[in-house]
Amino acid sequence: MKRIAIFASGSGSNAENIANYFKGSTEVEISLILANNPSAYVLKRAENLGIESVVVTNQEFREADKVLSLLQERNIDFIVLAGFLLLVPAKLIAAYPGRIVNIHPALLPKHGGKGMYGDNVHKAVVAAGDTESGITIHLIDERYDCGTTFFQAICPVLPTDTPDDVAAKVHALEYKHFPHVIDEILKTLK
Ligand code: GAR
Repeated sequence: MKRIAIFASGSGSNAENIANYFKGSTEVEISLILANNPSAYVLKRAENLGIESVVVTNQEFREADKVLSLLQERNIDFIVLAGFLLLVPAKLIAAYPGRIVNIHPALLPKHGGKGMYGDNVHKAVVAAGDTESGITIHLIDERYDCGTTFFQAICPVLPTDTPDDVAAKVHALEYKHFPHVIDEILKTLK
C-alpha cells in the first residue's frame, strides 16, 4: 500500500477529487491532508471524507521538522500538492526526492512563479491575450513552478473568456487528469 499525503491551502476540490478516485483502492491510500490555514475548506472536506487532517503554521512548514515527523510517523510515501501555496523547503524535498508532485493551473513555463496561483494565473492568461491555457503536473524543486514536467493538457481560451471562464475549463482538466497522472507516477515508484 502506498500512503499519500495531500497538501492544500484553500478549497481542496482537487484533494477531494483525488481522494474519491483512490477510495477503495488496495494499492493507494490518501492517508493525510495537510493545510497551512486553519480556515481552509479542505479541512471540512477531509472530515467529510474521513481522512485525517493536520494544520501547520507557515513558520512550522518552513522549518520542516514538524512536517517531516508527521509524514514519517504515518509512513507517507508520496506527497501531492493540490492548490498548496507555500514553497516547499529543501529539507522536505531532500526527504522525498522525486516524490512530490504539484499541479499548476497553466501551461508552464508560462504564468508560473511566486504569486502565480489560482485566479491570479487565469487573470494573467486573459490579460496576455493567450489563445490557450491548461494544466501542468510536475515534480517540484526548490523554486516555484519548476521541476520535471510529467504531463500537460490544453484548453482553448476564447477572446470573450473571462478569468472565471478559464478557471472553469482548467478545473475540468484538473479533475479529469490529475488522479490518473498520480496513479501512473505511483506505479513507477519502487
Ligand atoms: C487549482 O486550480 C490548482 O491548480 C491551483 O490552485 C487551485 C486549487 O483549487 N494551484 C496553484 O495555483 C499552485 N500554483 P482547489 O483548492 O479547489 O483544488
